[in-house]
Amino acid sequence: MDYVYLQKQIESLALDAGSMILAADTSDLRDVTVDTKSGRRDLVTSMDLEIQKMLMTELQKLIPSCRFLCEEAVPAMQTAMITNADEINRGVCFIIDPIDGTANFVHGNHHSCTSIAMTVDGETQIGVVYDPYLDELFSARKGCGCSLNGRLLPVFDTSIKSEITVFGTAPYDDATNAPTFRLAHLLYELSADVRRTGSAALDCCWTACGRFGLYAELGLSSWDYAAGKLIAEETGCIVSKIDGTSLCFEERPSILCGRPSAVKEFLDEYCKNA
Ligand code: IPD
Ligand code: CA
Repeated sequence: MDYVYLQKQIESLALDAGSMILAADTSDLRDVTVDTKSGRRDLVTSMDLEIQKMLMTELQKLIPSCRFLCEEAVPAMQTAMITNADEINRGVCFIIDPIDGTANFVHGNHHSCTSIAMTVDGETQIGVVYDPYLDELFSARKGCGCSLNGRLLPVFDTSIKSEITVFGTAPYDDATNAPTFRLAHLLYELSADVRRTGSAALDCCWTACGRFGLYAELGLSSWDYAAGKLIAEETGCIVSKIDGTSLCFEERPSILCGRPSAVKEFLDEYCKNA
């Protein structure tokens, strides 16, 4: 399989998705409908669906036998969807979040992206995340590093003390509310300051490029982190579950993503309090 060629094609589709986000946004979302899914915080818009359909159609042209693990349900494409998580371990799978940061998109907070990962026999080989608002394209190929707008990102290490850290609120599961804000408190105590941005994929990417020293969240879906995990790992970050154990594609795992020293310093304290 020509991964260099596939990476270029995936990058170009992510840019197309970004143009769709910007076009909807500049018309003040006039033509976009908004619905809820599992609860009041879990939003889906007609633009999520349109982008996902476009990506699935084009990716299927590239690899006709591919399967998909995607955030939204697009009726015309359901037969290509993975129904059992084990299916990721066979053949090519695209894990897609058409808009990560849907709530930001709906509320006009310009911090959202499109996230596409390609796995082969269960291993992520390519991860691409595009933020159309900042025109930033993060792109990684396994073992070949990660670039931001074509510039290779450096591999480095840093202590948590001097870094800004970021947490996610796992907003679709109220059972995580209290532990999430204990986590945020611990991050604030350990680091220079904390942020909550509303896009898990960009939280991984911003950790990859050094804007954050560490990112943690107590419940995510595969499409939220599949591309971001490879992007962060290719810049030397450690990506695991919150307790330091390995993170694979599974039902709503937690995530911890950061520079090796920052992760170690965090875990020393987190495990004391857990
Ligand atoms: C959400 C965002 C958010 C994170 C949630 C995700 P969505 O994705 O990444 O930052 O806290 O856990 O589900 O719903 O906007 O695609
Ligand atoms: Ca989404």
